[in-house]
Amino acid sequence: MPELQLLRPDHLPALLAFEQENRAYFAATIPDRGDDFFARFDERLRALLAEQKAGICYFHVLVDAAGEVLGRVNLVDVEDGGADLGYRIAERAAGRGLATWGVREVCRRAVDTYGLTTLRAATTLDNTASRAVLARTGFTVTGETRLSGRPGLTYVRRLQS
Ligand SMILES: CC(C)(COP(=O)(O)OP(=O)(O)OC[C@H]1O[C@@H](n2cnc3c(N)ncnc32)[C@H](O)[C@@H]1OP(=O)(O)O)[C@@H](O)C(=O)NCCC(=O)NCCS
Repeated sequence: MPELQLLRPDHLPALLAFEQENRAYFAATIPDRGDDFFARFDERLRALLAEQKAGICYFHVLVDAAGEVLGRVNLVDVEDGGADLGYRIAERAAGRGLATWGVREVCRRAVDTYGLTTLRAATTLDNTASRAVLARTGFTVTGETRLSGRPGLTYVRRLQS
């Protein structure tokens, strides 16, 4: 298994490579980040790290033995003991249980390290892999939503210490 590491400034080159290599793959299921995101990646990373320092977000990267980023599992909008979960796994590492493992690990850290009690998530109805990940990691459906105009589901997971 790769290591789950809290995002640091020195992850920048590997993180940018991950986002660039998988850009078209991710854009097939979730909204594209846009050209500006790639053009101003340094600035963007600095802003994310400032949010992390302030305790508003916790960004994690799944890093392999060669230092390459294989995935991301993030907690954003931390407030009142809750946060929103998001994740993405490299195309070349898909279907090996990485997202499931990463989400489980982040749920553990959410309780033990960040002191959270609830995580929220959402995915489109047609994202079968993501729905499988959420179901297997203890998230339950709370309702219906639309994500970028597509039908989706909202989820919650209550965390226990
Ligand atoms: C969704 C995503 C994170 C899953 O990552 P992953 O590491 O492949 O996930 P896992 O291997 O832990 O589990 C995926 C499960 O879905 C299944 N699955 C994958 N694609 C599927 C498909 N098209 N139809 C049915 N099941 C599918 C896998 O077989 C696996 O289940 P299994 O272990 O019982 O076989 C990854 O596909 C991804 O990054 N997609 C693009 C971004 C995205 O959609 N992020 C989530 C936004 S809510």
